Amino acid sequence: MTSSIPLQKARDYEKEQAARIPPASRPLFHLTPQVGWMNDPNGFCFYQGQFHLFFQYHPYSTQWGPMHWGHAVSDDLLHWQPCPCALAPDTPADASGCFSGSAVPLPDGRLLLVYTGVTETHHPDGVRQNQCIAVGDGTDFEKSPLNPVVRAELLPDTFSRQDFRDPKVWREPDGTYRMVIGNRHQTQCGTILLFRSDNAFDWQYTGEIDSSRNEYGQMWECPDFFTLDGEKVLLVSPQQMQARDEFHPGYGTVVLTGTFDDCTCHFTRESIHPIDYGFSFYAPQTALAPDGRRIMIAWMENWETCREAPHPHPWFSQMTLPRELSVVNGRLRQRPVREIETLWKDTRREEAKLEGETAFAGFCGHQIDLSVTVDFRSSACRLFFMDVARDSTRHVRISYETDRGELIFDRSHCGSLRDIVHIRRIPVSLEDSRLTLRLVMDLESIELFISDGETVITSVIPPSPEADGIVFFADQPVRLTAELHALA
Ligand code: FRU
Repeated sequence: MTSSIPLQKARDYEKEQAARIPPASRPLFHLTPQVGWMNDPNGFCFYQGQFHLFFQYHPYSTQWGPMHWGHAVSDDLLHWQPCPCALAPDTPADASGCFSGSAVPLPDGRLLLVYTGVTETHHPDGVRQNQCIAVGDGTDFEKSPLNPVVRAELLPDTFSRQDFRDPKVWREPDGTYRMVIGNRHQTQCGTILLFRSDNAFDWQYTGEIDSSRNEYGQMWECPDFFTLDGEKVLLVSPQQMQARDEFHPGYGTVVLTGTFDDCTCHFTRESIHPIDYGFSFYAPQTALAPDGRRIMIAWMENWETCREAPHPHPWFSQMTLPRELSVVNGRLRQRPVREIETLWKDTRREEAKLEGETAFAGFCGHQIDLSVTVDFRSSACRLFFMDVARDSTRHVRISYETDRGELIFDRSHCGSLRDIVHIRRIPVSLEDSRLTLRLVMDLESIELFISDGETVITSVIPPSPEADGIVFFADQPVRLTAELHALA
């Protein structure tokens, strides 16, 4: 298989540039692109003994540009090996970009990639998004001469031809295939469409699974759809959302649970809530691990804030820590993949009656997995907080106000030089009067799992190597247990 000139150019460029970037300037266990810009995870799957993760990629600058697919593989979801760029926009069907998509191993041993091919003419409505395929051996992929294999013209007239993207494909137990794709209905509602195929190459439109119903955004991007713990789960990333209930405005992420009838394509929605309550989480995609775990990974950024973000490195952006999913009482629960325990070094544990501000000996670091339980039973404590990434001028503060039952994540003082959203306040109800927090930090990011992953807050922070302090505070005595694992 020979590479096209644009693909070979990207492969040569990333190899040459990546060799100049010191590995220590990257996070320890969060995937970054070899060089240049990265956004959505694509093609996340387990194939031939390894996890494969592709992603939206513009190697030539740290800004979004003509979309390629970058590629990395991992044995443990923590250490990622870079692979050569997988797709470049080099055919008439994808001349303006290879947008997001997914992957499925075929019974003949090849890996099938399905992605959105974007083309543009000079007409005002000249953008077209159609679905394309490429097959390969896990490194090199050949695009189908029949691309685009799923054309927007197949859709009923009420659906957009301009906003029709991000196919997520899977194989059913009976050997047939399904695919969900995001769209914008003419009523300006985000919607998810289902397609089916007997062979993964010829696709028929089946119907609409669910839509924003004028409530949760005007366009739904990057869908995923799977069964977990007896529930049908739909993940979507809406654009142009208005604030409502727990949802913040703008770009968000939403999980819907319910039941689904595959014959009638009828989804009965039972619950809806944000996937992540932080600032830096978008376009999640899942893969099934060989041991049956449903693992989710997302772009640890958001379109609202990424474009103006400082670009201190020749690469831009990271993926989140992969998370193990489950559904408990209609809510999506997320836990760091258990493989993270293989990085645990130097464990410290403290059990204390906390009053005022306390820094425990040896409690510090930037690459940490920290679990904290605060037991408010028979305590008059009204304010608890924990500072991380702290020095004399900087910190990220996680507070809990018992009167309001609210957790506040505040990164205003993390060293940010921009007037962007820095604070999130979210209701957290305590179980047995206990607050449980697990915080994973890797140089430039914090992922906070609250109540055993029932609620998650993800935030990037600027690199600040000196600010590695951890401090606890309570306004009245309260019992605290903290376990800190340095990660290496
Ligand atoms: C989501 C998204 C996708 C699209 C891709 C383009 O972040 O807008 O809908 O395929 O990014 O890079």
